[in-house]
Amino acid sequence: MTQKALISFEDGSKYELPIIKATKGEDAVDVSSLLKQTHLFTYDAGFLSTASCKSSITYIDGDKGILLHRGYKIADLAEKVSFSSLFYALLFGELPKEKEFKDFEKRILEKMVVEEEVKKIILTFKPSSHPMAIMMAAISMLSAKYGANYSPYKEEAIIETAIDTLAKVCATGAYVYRFVLGLAEVDLKVDLSKSFEQNLSNFMFKGTEAEKYIDVVANTINKILILHADHEQNASTSSVRLVASTDVNIYASVVAGFAALWGPLHGGANEAVINMLKEIGDVKNIPLYVEKAKDKNSNFRLMGFGHRVYKNYDPRASVLKSSCDTVLEKLHSNQNNILSIAKELEKIALSDSYFKERKLFPNVDFYSGIIYKALGMPSSFFTVIFGMGRTAGWVAQVKEAMADEAKKISRPRQVYVGNTERTF
Ligand code: SDX
Repeated sequence: MTQKALISFEDGSKYELPIIKATKGEDAVDVSSLLKQTHLFTYDAGFLSTASCKSSITYIDGDKGILLHRGYKIADLAEKVSFSSLFYALLFGELPKEKEFKDFEKRILEKMVVEEEVKKIILTFKPSSHPMAIMMAAISMLSAKYGANYSPYKEEAIIETAIDTLAKVCATGAYVYRFVLGLAEVDLKVDLSKSFEQNLSNFMFKGTEAEKYIDVVANTINKILILHADHEQNASTSSVRLVASTDVNIYASVVAGFAALWGPLHGGANEAVINMLKEIGDVKNIPLYVEKAKDKNSNFRLMGFGHRVYKNYDPRASVLKSSCDTVLEKLHSNQNNILSIAKELEKIALSDSYFKERKLFPNVDFYSGIIYKALGMPSSFFTVIFGMGRTAGWVAQVKEAMADEAKKISRPRQVYVGNTERTF
């Protein structure tokens, strides 16, 4: 029997709204009939209390710091599976069996190419241009070249385009990486005997210092992509879903995802964290910055801290924090000073009542930049690698949205507070 919410107004009118039951976490009041019944909208700036869809891909328990993809715990996935396996699970609901995995990873690898037209677009930019802008232009070229193959009403076409998008976004990301670093163009041919993460690492790091440790690098890239793969209806995923709801091709929806992810409050925070840690420069300066972060008159925030959903430690940050020590040691990296500032900053912030009261903990972006630095990445590229991982979630969310029986074009309303009609 469907549970109901009762709304009553001061004039005595009463209305019933059905409750939608979740399998985990918060249930929801279905307000889709509210306007018709009451001529009222709901209002929820920033969507703090609003569920935009039903989804079975990712579950987050913000209070307990839990993150599940298709029910699998993020820490287990980061330790035990390859990124291709997780991508399969995001798309199809279960981790693949051995044969399914091999066929699927081969399907991705065969699409890991950087098109000549895409290279031309990239080369029109200066190497000093922000790589997120370059990626958006490059993926737009993919939408021009392949967008017509997409059909929002044929599941096989969606799956084909989803796999192609992930493969080409990652291959293109590797090409952009080399371009911004001024590295020589290498023959980016996949080796079908190697894994996705090994091929991607070769594409990115061939001929660089990191190539000496390519196995460590490939394992690290694999973990990074898994930790960034999906995160329910965050700003960029919601943007991708909204754009996809117009039936446009997936490449175009992913361009919108990259645009939203670029923001320093979202995926751009990893770049801002490293810039902040560099600015702090020494552990003795930490108290000054912590005070600045608490001062409402300064628009300074501790980047990499706080989260709309997590009111506990972000489980992804825990995995990254524990990886930092091993990766820095194995790569003989010189990021130890930055890492010690980060650890001391975390310790001081977490003992401060301002952060404790507001439940501000390190999020995924707080430690990731330290690992990227150790791999030799310029900080402007950090959000690109985030976007390469997140493309797996974005395309899986589009597939789910297209199959949703409640699918409609997303078109929020507003509370109009402007001028009433007037003559002039
Ligand atoms: C990602 O949504 C996702 O899932 C995103 C993500 C994903 O995987 O997709 O997890 C990836 O984007 C992680 C977040 C990266 N962003 C940053 O690290 C930027 C710094 N963090 C903040 O800007 C902030 O915490 C947000 C944007 C992450 C969340 O903002 P909210 O939920 O809108 O909360 P808020 O801005 O209203 O803050 C609540 C209070 C405020 O103080 P009061 O007005 O109550 O006194 O906490 C304060 C804020 O001033 N606050 C901070 C702070 N974050 C919040 N104060 C200092 N430093 C901070 N980092």
